Amino acid sequence: TGAFTFDPGFTSTASCESKITYIDGDEGVLLYRGYPIEQLAEHGDFLETCYLLYYGELPTPSQRKEFDKNITYHTMVHEQMTRFFQGFRRDAHPMAVMVAVVGAMSAFYHDSTDINDARQREIASHRMIAKLPTIAAMAYKYHIGQPFVYPQNSLSYSANFLRMCFAVPCEEYVVNPILARAMDRIFILHADHEQNASTSTVRLAGSSGANPFACIAAGIACLWGPAHGGANEAALEMLKEIGDPAKVPEFIAKVKDKTSHIRLMGFGHRVYKNYDPRAKIMQKTAHEVLTELGIKDDPLLEVARVLEQAALSDPYFIERKLYPNVDFYSGIILRALGFPTSMFTVLFALARTVGWISQWKEMIEDPNQKIGRPRQLYTGAPRRDYVPVTQRG
Ligand code: CMC
Repeated sequence: TGAFTFDPGFTSTASCESKITYIDGDEGVLLYRGYPIEQLAEHGDFLETCYLLYYGELPTPSQRKEFDKNITYHTMVHEQMTRFFQGFRRDAHPMAVMVAVVGAMSAFYHDSTDINDARQREIASHRMIAKLPTIAAMAYKYHIGQPFVYPQNSLSYSANFLRMCFAVPCEEYVVNPILARAMDRIFILHADHEQNASTSTVRLAGSSGANPFACIAAGIACLWGPAHGGANEAALEMLKEIGDPAKVPEFIAKVKDKTSHIRLMGFGHRVYKNYDPRAKIMQKTAHEVLTELGIKDDPLLEVARVLEQAALSDPYFIERKLYPNVDFYSGIILRALGFPTSMFTVLFALARTVGWISQWKEMIEDPNQKIGRPRQLYTGAPRRDYVPVTQRG
């Protein structure tokens, strides 16, 4: 078999060196470029986090101004791209649209696909950070049959995104700053998470020299699955299905019965064997948003609370170190903001784009970078000779 180790699921294999994100799963610590996630979520904003992840330091005031200018310069998509959307069935899942449209960016922005040119790499990165909200909002508008809303650069990144999703031409739309702040915080919490499945996908795709738009499209495809970015959608569907706090014990019993193959969505993590620090901030944000919207006694929040308590005191979850992860409470907030579940993973993709592109940049700039090429343990048939079809019985 050769001299290599067999590590299904890469549970103990480091695929790269990185200076971007640090996680201590036992202690429940998450740092972006050394800064605790709690501090960034409380005091920073998403664009600042983008700068930090991408360039490695928090921006000075003049760097911040320049960065804002570069990002807002790219917020619109090429007008021809708006027609690309018309090719989809009108009820297409917005994630299907995201994979395709982001992939198609390499066909629209040829002047930033040369990965050997540092300036082109930077422009492609700015374009993706700037255009993903526009594309995500367009995917949503197309899905619900409303006209596209163009970006408004005088607004903050998240306020502009909410406006592109929820404004309609026949009414004035005023962005609620508390809700925009909550959206921004959700983006900060999802911005990077070291070598998760989608980030590893982006790095693997990029290791062959593929252009950055194609690499990010690959990341979006990987993120779609329910064990990864699709978990927020699945978590909310689960809370809806339970529906009533009184039904929590019955549901927990089903999860514990392995033959049911039901998992508690929004619970457990490959790296965190303690409370996911993002889940704590998410829980607090959920309360803030519901209070702002005057939603008292949200039944789903109550189901979530009872479910969390029941799981955290149950030996099954204690023994396996299963705690709420980032997705347990995010669905409650996104639903309150007005997003349908089909948009949840899209929002994750939007936020994670900066993490993917920062990881891609780090890899491309590494002089020791080589194509990712895992090996396998072959367990198939031994060598055998071909038999013509007429002689096969
Ligand atoms: N509910 C019930 N049991 C679980 C769960 C869960 N959510 N997660 C893990 N387990 C059990 C699993 O059945 C196994 O039990 P046993 O040892 O008896 O076979 C044990 O815990 C270890 O599970 P694993 O599948 O080996 O753990 P993993 O590190 O491969 O999986 C995970 C990590 C996140 C895929 C998993 O915990 C899961 O499926 N969670 C639900 C989906 C979810 O919330 N995903 C979002 C993750 S955070 C955001 C992101 O990364 O996208």
